[in-house]
This record gives sequence, C-alpha cells and structure tokens, in this order.
Amino acid sequence: MVETHRHDVVIVGGGAAGLRAAIAAVEADPNITVALVSKVYPMRSHTVSAEGGAAAVTREDDSFEMHGYDTVKGSDFLGDQDVIEYFVEQAPKELTLLEHWGCPWSRNEDGSVATRAFGGMSIKRTWYAADKVGFHMLHALFQHSMRFDRIVRYDEQFVTRLLIDDGQVRGVVALDIRQGTMRAFLGRSVILCTGGGGKIFPFTTNGNIKTGDGMALAYRAGVALKDMEFVQYHPTGLPGTGILITEATRGEGAYLKNKDGERFLVTRDYGVGSKAELGPRDLISRAMVQEFEAGRGFSGSYGEYLHLDLTHLGEEKINQRLPMVRELAKVYGGVDPVYEPIPVRPVVHYMMGGVDTDIDTATQLPGLYAAGETACVSLNGANRLGSNSLTECLVFGARSGEQALQFSKGADDGNERAVRAQAEEEQARIDQLRGKVKGGEKLARLRVDMNKTLESGCGVYRQEDSMQQTVRDIAQIKGRFADLALEDKSKVFNTELVSALELHNMLEIAEVVANSAASRKESRGAHTRRDAPTRDDQNCLYHTLCFFDPAGPRIEKKDVTLGTWVPEERKY
Ligand code: FUM
Repeated sequence: MVETHRHDVVIVGGGAAGLRAAIAAVEADPNITVALVSKVYPMRSHTVSAEGGAAAVTREDDSFEMHGYDTVKGSDFLGDQDVIEYFVEQAPKELTLLEHWGCPWSRNEDGSVATRAFGGMSIKRTWYAADKVGFHMLHALFQHSMRFDRIVRYDEQFVTRLLIDDGQVRGVVALDIRQGTMRAFLGRSVILCTGGGGKIFPFTTNGNIKTGDGMALAYRAGVALKDMEFVQYHPTGLPGTGILITEATRGEGAYLKNKDGERFLVTRDYGVGSKAELGPRDLISRAMVQEFEAGRGFSGSYGEYLHLDLTHLGEEKINQRLPMVRELAKVYGGVDPVYEPIPVRPVVHYMMGGVDTDIDTATQLPGLYAAGETACVSLNGANRLGSNSLTECLVFGARSGEQALQFSKGADDGNERAVRAQAEEEQARIDQLRGKVKGGEKLARLRVDMNKTLESGCGVYRQEDSMQQTVRDIAQIKGRFADLALEDKSKVFNTELVSALELHNMLEIAEVVANSAASRKESRGAHTRRDAPTRDDQNCLYHTLCFFDPAGPRIEKKDVTLGTWVPEERKY
C-alpha cells in the first residue's frame, strides 16, 4: 500500500518559487495546509547558488516603464507584455517583503538599498547581497516559512507522476528517497516549482538536481511545454565544471578579453554598442564563440576559453562585493582574480521555456500551476535578462500560491480510489525499474551521448542539419534507455535509481528542446540559426508549444501578447 497524505495544496519544489508559493497560500487562508514536497532538503535547492542579484525598480531615476522596456527588448519581443507589466510593478514589493523577512540587501552609504548594473538593463536596478544573493534569499524564505506549521515539509521525496482523475490534477506520487517506498500526496491543486533542466547539456552552471523534473511531469500529463528552443548560455562559466562566475563581475566593471588582451566587445562590432561587457547574454555568448572561431581564444583541456579580467577593480572592492567569485576562482579555477584573469567560456545557464502557463500561473490542466524556471509564463521570451529570474520566482511564486489556493477552495477531492490505484501502478513501475539488472546500456553512457548531441545541435549557434541530427539522436537514445541495466537493487538512498528516473525526465525535455528548435525557422534571442540569421516578425512572432504524443513531439503555435512596445530592431 502506498502511504497517503492529504493537504489542500501540494507544492513540488522547495526553492525560491516553491517556498514563496507556500507562504502566499498559508498567509491567504489560516485554515489550510500545504505539502511542500522536495527532491532535496530545501536549503539545497538550486536557488542557493544564484549569485549576482534580483532586479526591481527602486531608484528615483528608474521607472516601471524602463524596466518593462528593457525586459521586452531583452526578450527579443517574444515576452508577453501584460506579464512583463505585472512583473515590474510587483517586483519592488516582493524584494522589500524579503528584506522584512531577513534578507540582508547590501546598502549605500546613506542606508538606501544598493543596486548594481546588469546586462541589458539601462540603469543600475539589481539588488544584491554581495555575490551570495540566492543563499540569502533562500535563507530568508526558508526561515520565514518555518513560522507556519501548516506548511508541512516532505524532504527528499522525488515526484515521479501527477495523479489525474476526471480531467483534473488530484496530487502527486513520489519516491521517498530515504526509504525507497512510494508516497502519494493528494491535494485539490498542485504547483510545480522544480527549476529548469540545464543538465541536459554538458557544460552548465546548473547543479546536478536540475533535471527538468517538473517539466517532464507536466509534459507526460498532456500539458504543453512552451518556447523550449530558447536555452540561455551565460557568458562566464568556469571551463570544465561550468561553475557560474556572476555577471555582477562585469556589473562591477570587469572586462572580457581575448588572447591578444583585446576587449573585443569594445574593439569589434558585436552589436552590444556602448554597453560592451554589459550587453545581453545572447549577444555576448555569440561574440565569444566568434572570437573562438577567429582563433582569438585560449585552448585548454575543456575546449576554448577567454579571460574575465577583474585585476583593475582592486582587492578591497573584490573582497567587499565579490567575495564568492574570488573563492570560486581560487578553488575551482586555480587563479586569484585580484592578480590574474579568470578563464571563462559560455555555459548553459537557464531555460526561457517551460510549462505553458497563463499570467495566473495556471496550466491547461485544471488544478495544475507552475512558477519559476519550471514554468514559462512568458516573461523572458527568447532571452532572459540577468537578475530578472530571482524576482520572477517571488512574483509568480506568490501568484501561484494565491491562485492554487483559490482553485482548491472550489474543487472537490475527486475519486480517491481511482487516484490511489494510479499511485499503486506507479509503485509497480518503480519497483520494476529498481530490479532491472538485465540490459545492455549504462546510465553514464546515455547521459554523455545526450549531452554531446544537445551541444552540437542546440548550442549557441544552430542550423537545420545539426538540429535534425540531434532530433534523430535523442529519439535513438530514448530507444536505448529501454535497454538500461541498473546494478543497485537496494531501497535506501538508491541514487542509481534516482539518476535513472532523472535521465528519463531529461531525455523527454531534450527531445522537446531539439524539436522546438528545429521548428523555428528564424533567429531570435538565444535561438540563433546560421542558415536563417535574421528575426522574422512577419512569420515567426509566436510562442512554440510542444505536446507529448506517443508518435513523437507535436508542435503548435500560440500568439504573443503585444502592448505598449512595438517590435523594432534590437540595437544596443
Ligand atoms: O550572473 C549571475 O549572477 C546570474 C544571474 C541571473 O541569471 O539572474
């Protein structure tokens, strides 16, 4: 028998979006309970590794209009403008609330909140707490959540399936990683807040837990994944590990240089204009690849790289504003940035796409909501601006908590017997996989093959033949997955089983990324085709929807919500 827990709202994921959703739901109604179901202990959620900051208007010389325009332009006009307007207006309230909950934002001399420059933003509007912003935000949220005993935490529970009855979501079923048993978490609404899936690529800032779990759950349940072709490369990851060296370095004045010591973003025309190192990420990543192709990169054991030079900033500023960068560069890059440049290369950082939601974070499946990187509420369009995502987790995390609560009040519990039967079925599937010793394929080989083909077909630059090759490769790797053999039959902390379930999720979303990319016949934001190098608003100003179909992914289109800002050429 699968152990069952019933709550009003079930939240999957304990990072910034999940915690914010939980707090919003219980604050809105003192009589409900929320299940917070997370694959890891919440303080190990990937939010903890965010570094540079969170954007919101606070200065007198800034405005919602300016933040909105920067975000629309950064999105290459694919962001939904009603969503963007709502976001910029809510952002300052959310960051102020977080301060009241204990987030130690860095201050100016006069005591006001300090802001720093970030790529693609026209003014300093990124709030920060040195370069450990995710750590401090997550702490503030987690500690505040502990005030509510009605938020019931279920840590180290890996959700493997949505439970659906009568066309409505009724809860989730999860593998209890500690015990190896299955548990069902029943609720009248469910919110997915499980982050992105950068681990489908070989070089990424993403932690190992970011395997696209929530996206795959929704996709298998018939919900579309939207705009999945738009995968963001961050210009400055450490070669090898992919560890993030925050954009805040450039916000504080660092330079990118090639092997001739040239600030190529200043000396050559890469479309970033006077913004130079503070151009948006898509343009800078492309400039770096072009520098490699022109033979102006350094070569190392993990491929080519360039230099991020902080030496002119001085030790005092680096220690005060960028202490973690110094530590990361020393420990993982082998250089002290006070004295030497840091080797960096573009690495996968963020998925603009995700579970298709409306502005209320609702999906097409009644009762199912999504927020944060898991979701695509259409804030970021084809390219996200750095520091908008932490704020997005708060703004839309809160909205999802409120909306899911409202839904749960009007819904019934459904047919519990039918739902329990689905949970039992899932238990049988997981038991079968755990004992699957026969097979010719190894997890690691499949994962490496998936990583390689994703990078070659859906990297910074793309073209028809390589994208189509990746589509074929992923379909073939999915076929090989069926022949996977697992060695570990144990129940307690069976990490091999967890990795197999994660790989299943990753293959699903890898297939969606490749098929969505191959379907878009233009270049826009992070989707840059060498064989179709320009943006085509006439034919391609639409969101891509990708649906699960046993015969293979099915692509449809959805309108972009325009408004104040008319699409124009994107110039900096
Ligand atoms: O570079 C960074 O600190 C990343 C920030 C972001 O992706 O928002």
